[in-house]
Parts: sequence; structure tokens; C-alpha cells
Amino acid sequence: CRVQRYTFDVVLKNTTKLCSSKQIVTVNGKFPGPTIYAREDDTVLIKVVNHVQYNLSIHWHGIRQLRTGWADGPAYVTQCPIPSGQSYLYNFTVTGQRGTLFWHAHILWLRATVHGALVILPKLGVPYPFPAPHKEVVIVLAEWWKSDTEAVINEALKSGLAPNVSDAHTINGHSGPLSSCSTQGGFTLPVKNGNTYLLRIINAALNEELFFKIAGHKLTVVEVDATYVKPFKTDAILIAPGQTTNALITADQSSGKYLVAASPFMTSPIAVDNNTATATLHYSGTLATTTTTLTAPPPQNSTSVANNFLNSLRSINSNTYPARVPLTIDHNLLFTVGLGINPCPTCKAGNGSRTVASINNVTFVMPTTALLQAHYFNINGVFTTDFPATPPHVFNYTGSGPSNLQTTRGTKLYKLKYNSTVELVLQDTGIVVPENHPVHLHGFNFFVVGSGIGNYDPKNGPKSFNLVDPVERNTVGVPSGGWIAIRFRADNPGVWFMHCHLEVHTTWGLKMAFLVENGNGPNQSIIPPPKDLPKC
Ligand code: C2O
Repeated sequence: CRVQRYTFDVVLKNTTKLCSSKQIVTVNGKFPGPTIYAREDDTVLIKVVNHVQYNLSIHWHGIRQLRTGWADGPAYVTQCPIPSGQSYLYNFTVTGQRGTLFWHAHILWLRATVHGALVILPKLGVPYPFPAPHKEVVIVLAEWWKSDTEAVINEALKSGLAPNVSDAHTINGHSGPLSSCSTQGGFTLPVKNGNTYLLRIINAALNEELFFKIAGHKLTVVEVDATYVKPFKTDAILIAPGQTTNALITADQSSGKYLVAASPFMTSPIAVDNNTATATLHYSGTLATTTTTLTAPPPQNSTSVANNFLNSLRSINSNTYPARVPLTIDHNLLFTVGLGINPCPTCKAGNGSRTVASINNVTFVMPTTALLQAHYFNINGVFTTDFPATPPHVFNYTGSGPSNLQTTRGTKLYKLKYNSTVELVLQDTGIVVPENHPVHLHGFNFFVVGSGIGNYDPKNGPKSFNLVDPVERNTVGVPSGGWIAIRFRADNPGVWFMHCHLEVHTTWGLKMAFLVENGNGPNQSIIPPPKDLPKC
């Protein structure tokens, strides 16, 4: 098998956008950062050298990291962060996966600017299960704040209130021709009439789900989160932070320029954001004085557009790519996810209280020693394994919140036996505000077997489950005021983080971790830690 080597120099870079300049943390001075290319079965070695003042770590989002949790990246979960002036070699093998994923910093809010694409091509000689495109194009969607993003979240934590929404969205680093102060024209996608293009779309935004649309062209979705899906055509793609989507587009117009747009999807936002990022699809060599715009931009709160899109996602479930949905379940889990309010005497703006977030009423507290080390070396006192399998109070939301929104704090893990099967229902509490929560699980893909609005009903819910061809992914939106059911097999020993991929919710505590024990057979244990693993 082949080895792909990369060096990531993490450096500050002075950057100007929206008529204002600031220093941002970047990899190799680029925003978005460099794309990593590998093939299925390749080993990837990335030397991350930290030249900035922050401690940092990088996560290879969606890579399963079979037995190699040391390379997963979330700070204080699988590793201590890389201190300023030091380096760490991430070493992992891509097993049983091909498609588009991405990498990002996994500490503080650094992933705002420290992120990039991770493209896994199929094994040499193995075709895609769809017509080969003429060209492939990576599209990274992100958010941009004029102020320093660490200042934005620190300010919010001090006040107890929600942080400011971003000042712009970006497509491959540009807010686009329609945004104010756009000096460059934005990102241009050159196409040739009759050709087909594979767009590898990544939502690297911190806090916002996005619709992605191209004027005058349909998109054919063929893959999400590096798993193939049954192809379907759509006008708009819905993509949450942490999700990736591959779509084919055929240049079936003859000439001209067409608007590409990424705009927020928010069901009941605390703070409204109307910023749309734009780019241009241009039929090369043809003149265009105007750009064809969207006939109907997806409305910001369009749950019907969103649901149509989500309901169309089915795993390909072919002989070559079977959907191995667990049919018997060892652990039936029900986790409520949502926001809460805790007292905060020093929070003046928040009137003595602060917004928190929790899973089953536990607001997760990050330890100061990495959980995986604590587990591997049997260090006591870092975490407990009493994460509740079900909510502490029977969950029944009838439209108004309970008077007591307080959560308990703890570093609680949920323990799973090697190769046991899990069904996890994630229920949005909607107590402070009903919101979509794109929940991401490290170390696994899972099957999205069911979803609904309102309270999950254990009697009737399972009757609607799709156990044949449910979509397989690593990040799924828990619908606003509703629930989602996922299934996975715990075939990867280690400590695996699960959290909302809206960064502000992670900061507020919407996170927990699974501890998967070693199995007894060969190749069923965590490999020993590498020598250069950072110390806390
Ligand atoms: Cu993409 Cu734990 O993150």
C-alpha cells in the first residue's frame, strides 16, 4: 500500500476580507487549507508543526481511525494538544472508505480558519458507481467574522449570551461577487458545454447549516459523508456543518455565467443571518455581461425543502457496497439534546444566567488529561462511565419548557463492549429554542434509520424504521423539535467523541464520548500510542 505524506505548518496570516484585515491561523498560509489526496487503503502521514501561540490539534473528520484513535485529533479526548513550537505526526490508514471528507482544527474555535478538504479516491482501477466526471472540483463552504473568532466566543462566554453571527459566508475562501467590499470577483467554476463535473462540497462553517444552489442547473447527489447514495436530482443541497456531499452537475446550458449560492438554513434562530455567499459558474470562452441568478433562493426557514432533500438520501446498498445495518440491538439509547440555562452570577448581560447545552441533562466538562490516555493507561479520576442511557426525567415536551432548565456538569462516558450494536435516538428538547443539531460521531459511520417530529414514541417510532437502505453518514441533523434514530456497530476500540457540530453548542457542552472496550481477538485492540504523542 502507498504512503501519502504531508507537512502542515500552522502559521498566522494577515488576511483582508469585507474591507477589513486581521491575522488568522492557517495551515501553510492558506484559507481554506490544502487538500489532502489519498486512495482507499493508503496510509496518510501528516506532520503538523505548530508555529502559533495557541495549543492545537487537528481532526480528520469522518476518517474511521480503526484502532488508531491517537490520530483522531479532538483535543483532550484522544490527545493532548500540540503546544506552540512543537509538532505531532498524525498516522492513519484509510480503510473501507472513499469519498469526500475534511480536516479541521479541534480545539477552541480555531477550525473557523484551520480546515481543508480530504479527498479519498477509490482503489486504483475501481470505478465510481456513477458515470465518470470530466473533472472534479472541491468546494469548501465556511463562515467569516471581521473580528478575531476567539474574541467572539470569549466575549459570548463572559456575557452568557449567544455569540455574534458571522459577517459573511465563503465559497473556497471568497464571499463572492454580490457581497459588499468584494474586491475580487469571488470563486469561478469554469465549465465546458456538455461536460459533467463532480463537486465535492464541504460545510466547514462553524455554526450554520447551508443550502447550496446553482442557477439554471440541477445537481445529482451521489455521495454524502464518504458513502455512496442512490443518485437523485435536486435544485438545492442541504448541508450541515460537518457534512460533505458529492454532486454531479452537467453543463447543459450553452454559454454565459450562472450564480452559485450558499445561504443559511435556520429554523428558529436566536440571531438571524441573511448572508449569502456567491460564486460564478462560467462557460469558458463565452461572453456574458450579466450573471443568471437563482429563480428561487431557498427561503431561510424552508423545512419542506430541507425535508425533501433529507428524505431522498438512501444508501446505494448494492452488492459491492452493501448497507450493513445492525438488525439486533445490544444498547437501546435515548439521548435528549438541547440548550439549557445555568446560573452565572458574573454574567451581567445574561442577567445572572448563561446559556449551556447538554445531552441527557449532562453538560460535558472537558478534562485536562486526554480521555484516551486516561483509558489506555488506567489513570483514575479523569472520567466516569455513568453517562445515562436515557434522560434523567421522562422526556415529554408539550410546547412550553419546564421551570428548571439547569443541567448537571460532568465528564461522563458511556461504555460499549467491542462489537456490540447500538441504537441511539437523539431527541431535540426544544426547551430554550427548537434548533437543528448536526450531531457528529467520531470513529464510526452510522445508519440513519428513522426520524420524526415531536416526541419520540418507543412503541410506534420503530415501525417506521428503514433497515434496508438507510443513508450512512458521520454527521446527522437532529430535526428542530423532533428526533432521529441511528444505528451502528461498536467495532472500533477507543474513546470516541460525539457532539453537535455547531461549534457554539459544543462550546456550551453539547458533547459526550463513548468508550469502546478492546475485543479479545487479534486486531481488536487499540494500537500503542506513538512516541511523539503530545503531553498535557
Ligand atoms: Cu468535525 Cu469532533 O469534529
